[in-house]
Amino acid sequence: MTRRKPRGISFGDKLRSMEAAITFQDIIMLPGLSEVEPASVDIRTRVSKRHRLNVPFVSSPMDTVTESEMAIAMAREGGLGVLHRNCPIEEEVEMAKKVKRAEALIIRDVVTVNPEQTVGEALELMRANNISGLPVVEGEKLVGILTGRDVRFADTSLKVKALMTKEVIVADEGITLEKAKDILQEHRIEKLPIVDKSGRLRGLITFKDISLRGKYPNAARDEEGQLLCAAAISPFDLERAKRLDRHVDILVTDVAHFHNRGVIEATKKVMKEVSADVVVGNIGTAEAVEDILSSLEDVAGFRVGVGSGSICITTEVTKAGAPTLYAVAKVADALQEHRADIPIIADGGIRNPGDAAVALAAGASAIMAGNLFARCKEAPGTLMAIGGRYYKQYRGMGSPSAMAKRYSLDRYSVPSKEISEGVEGWVPYKGEVSTVVRELAAGLRASMGYAGARNIRELWEKARFAMLTPAGTEETKPHDILLPSESAERMK
Ligand code: XMP
Repeated sequence: MTRRKPRGISFGDKLRSMEAAITFQDIIMLPGLSEVEPASVDIRTRVSKRHRLNVPFVSSPMDTVTESEMAIAMAREGGLGVLHRNCPIEEEVEMAKKVKRAEALIIRDVVTVNPEQTVGEALELMRANNISGLPVVEGEKLVGILTGRDVRFADTSLKVKALMTKEVIVADEGITLEKAKDILQEHRIEKLPIVDKSGRLRGLITFKDISLRGKYPNAARDEEGQLLCAAAISPFDLERAKRLDRHVDILVTDVAHFHNRGVIEATKKVMKEVSADVVVGNIGTAEAVEDILSSLEDVAGFRVGVGSGSICITTEVTKAGAPTLYAVAKVADALQEHRADIPIIADGGIRNPGDAAVALAAGASAIMAGNLFARCKEAPGTLMAIGGRYYKQYRGMGSPSAMAKRYSLDRYSVPSKEISEGVEGWVPYKGEVSTVVRELAAGLRASMGYAGARNIRELWEKARFAMLTPAGTEETKPHDILLPSESAERMK
């Protein structure tokens, strides 16, 4: 039988030109000359073209990882949470509003009463919104303020106008944080309404918000002082993107394979309609960067890595993938070639600060993790006791149970809707996200100290790597010692 000559490049040629798709476990970062102590290493970064973080950590848009509680906690620690989209549009918008309402220098959607309402109604408003006082307005004009103290023992059928304080201390839009603090302290008040020249209510500064700024000095905030917020979208759901655009700083496309003509064209339409930064992905090759940059003008960031996630079975099922470390290196090189200054978020497979350091050193500006944050109290997954230990539920967005909710089915290619590309299970409970972020930050600073890098930009330049042999991989772990966890296992 004669074999037909293959068209184009033969499989043999392809084999010979094959590269090693290196993963985190394959390499180590070599120690370099250091003039920096870990404590003074600067880990601030850019997560998208216009937005900065104080720590380079982002929680994944997954329904067992990031809802508003996680997004608030991540931003307060200086990082970012990307709200998942496996829910109706209204729910995702509500989550975003909650993040934005959590803290502000000036609250814009102020809850108010009018003078003719009853004290009972005012008390109900305070209870429902968990607040301790209400500006009183006639139309838009501020005419008084009613605090919990004013109404504590009052007859609930009285009108608000009978009990409100009419001489209200106010400020105008231009007030600084320091000045607001002084006024609140001097007059021993909790709330400072912001009014315009005609006396119309324009916002509210509260003592609670100011003290939260003191409590979370490292928080990632927008220019209004509200916590930075990102949300996942499908490029095919323009309505969701437009609705979220009013509330979030960053929209993140949530597509397993972004390097797809239809996906790129749909994203072009989204970009025309929104003003938030749009981070696109996931991608894993230099060719993807070329094709995307030649079609889309406003890419604000790349989400990079295909198939490395701890819950992924994409590569097992399809044999297709671009491990996060390899993908970041390829995308970073391609961006450099294009002289495109666009931040990379390394997404998937990051298990510890060392993996984060290597991903950043390969060219990323931030890392995205699901598994590490699913373990936290603030993650929405169920907490469960198994064999005397606590675990939290964690599932891939391509797992059968996540896909049963159907909202993120379009994350995966059409054929894969009939197969699953993710698994679900349990991860050990770790407590508050603040502890996890601080441990990651401390480990990252130590890694950067070894590399001799003062900041992430220097890490890109200075980091050197070496391949590990299988024997080396064993040697870099604890060995020739029985660890307490193993001895407990053996004694069972
Ligand atoms: P880690 O390793 O932190 O990875 O658990 C989280 C990232 O994995 C991606 N992701 C998936 N990939 N099937 C996949 O192939 C899935 O079901 C799935 N769910 C999430 C996603 O990029 C996430 O940030």
